[in-house]
Amino acid sequence: MISFSVVIPSEKGRAITIPGTILVAGGAGYIGSHVVRALLDVGYDPVVYDNLSRGHPQAVPPGVPLIKGDIGNTQTLGRTIRDFRVEGVLHFAADSLVGESMANPRRYFENNVSQGLVFLRTLLEHGVKNLVFSSTAAVYGDPVVRPLDRLATDRPTDGHLSNQEDLLYLTEGRPLRPTNPYGESKAFFETALARYAAAYGLRAIALRYFNAAGAHFSGEIGEDHEPETHLIPLVLKVALGQSEKIIVYGNDYPTPDGSPIRDYIHVDDLAQAHILALKVLLDPERPGGFKAYNLGNGHGYSVLEVIEVAREVTGRKIPLEIGPRRAGDPAILVASFERARQDLGWEPRHPDLRRIIASAWEWHRRHPGGYLQQARTPGNQKPLPGRPSLAE
Ligand SMILES: NC(=O)c1ccc[n+]([C@@H]2O[C@H](COP(=O)([O-])OP(=O)(O)OC[C@H]3O[C@@H](n4cnc5c(N)ncnc54)[C@H](O)[C@@H]3O)[C@@H](O)[C@H]2O)c1
Repeated sequence: MISFSVVIPSEKGRAITIPGTILVAGGAGYIGSHVVRALLDVGYDPVVYDNLSRGHPQAVPPGVPLIKGDIGNTQTLGRTIRDFRVEGVLHFAADSLVGESMANPRRYFENNVSQGLVFLRTLLEHGVKNLVFSSTAAVYGDPVVRPLDRLATDRPTDGHLSNQEDLLYLTEGRPLRPTNPYGESKAFFETALARYAAAYGLRAIALRYFNAAGAHFSGEIGEDHEPETHLIPLVLKVALGQSEKIIVYGNDYPTPDGSPIRDYIHVDDLAQAHILALKVLLDPERPGGFKAYNLGNGHGYSVLEVIEVAREVTGRKIPLEIGPRRAGDPAILVASFERARQDLGWEPRHPDLRRIIASAWEWHRRHPGGYLQQARTPGNQKPLPGRPSLAE
């Protein structure tokens, strides 16, 4: 692996750029750790930078440097950028629990915004201008269905809810009206990226994920949040007997079965989108600036559907209880990913809910206690030969 960008002449005399080192901030977390593997698969050289507040060293593959540092720590970050000759950055490092953000907004504004801005400043001071940012569908808030946002679907009718006319597809043109500090912190950071792109030449792409789900097909890494708030892992914990039942918050929404509809996007599809976004940013022929893209699979699945498919995949009983609606839960959130398809050449390869849940189940079945249960591999934190070891 080459840790910096070099240009070599090709056989036909055209220059080929070999990908350089990519700093993966938050790379010990759920999505970041999957993206690290995807980067390795296509020949990039990742360095994980994570304060391990919520991440897992075991999720970082052996041989990939793991620098324990905070995005707001200018010294450790600056040293990492210099020592590893960082060329591009994937920024996953943030707190992302909606409920926690309501109870403790300070944490969200301080970590996701204040520390994030220090992060940006340090990157720019060190001449790093290429950044992919993990944004979220939460920036849209509680969208109102308008005919304008209904897209004609070109998919064959396959019985999925996405083919029903009354589904709402969210496009990036929608106004950002977040309804919680988490969404607000992400929306603000997007604004900063747009302004910094115009003023300082930053080249930035924000990827607005809908519901990230599933696990690496090797079954070796997967979702392990504490606390867990995402539907699929919570349902699978019931299947494993770790919790008694799953609560469905409301069955009187204006949807076919009364439960809310969401868009689940496989974490491997998210990873591929990051590779494509990075390629666009690192291509000197492409214009810079800032642009945001939705990443969803364009299919909506209801909460009750998810539970039913999980029962089929696991072959286990998954008792459920209907509870009251939760404040601020929109009835339907489904992405339009047309912009990502057109500009990045991306489309989801694993949109099938059964496949998404099966990959998650493989991870949870093999690691019922998550990463804690796995033997800690100190080798993960050892520097590669000839590479500096940095610790906060
Ligand atoms: N999981 C989803 O469904 C989803 C949906 C939309 C957006 N996102 C966004 O994607 C990103 C990754 O989500 P995830 O589910 O992998 O979360 P995660 O909590 O598993 O990973 C986040 C990582 O960032 C690290 N981190 C947090 N603050 C840091 C700081 N100040 N300095 C250094 N490291 C820090 C944590 O230790 C953790 O390893 C987040 O920014 C989140 O807002 C996630």
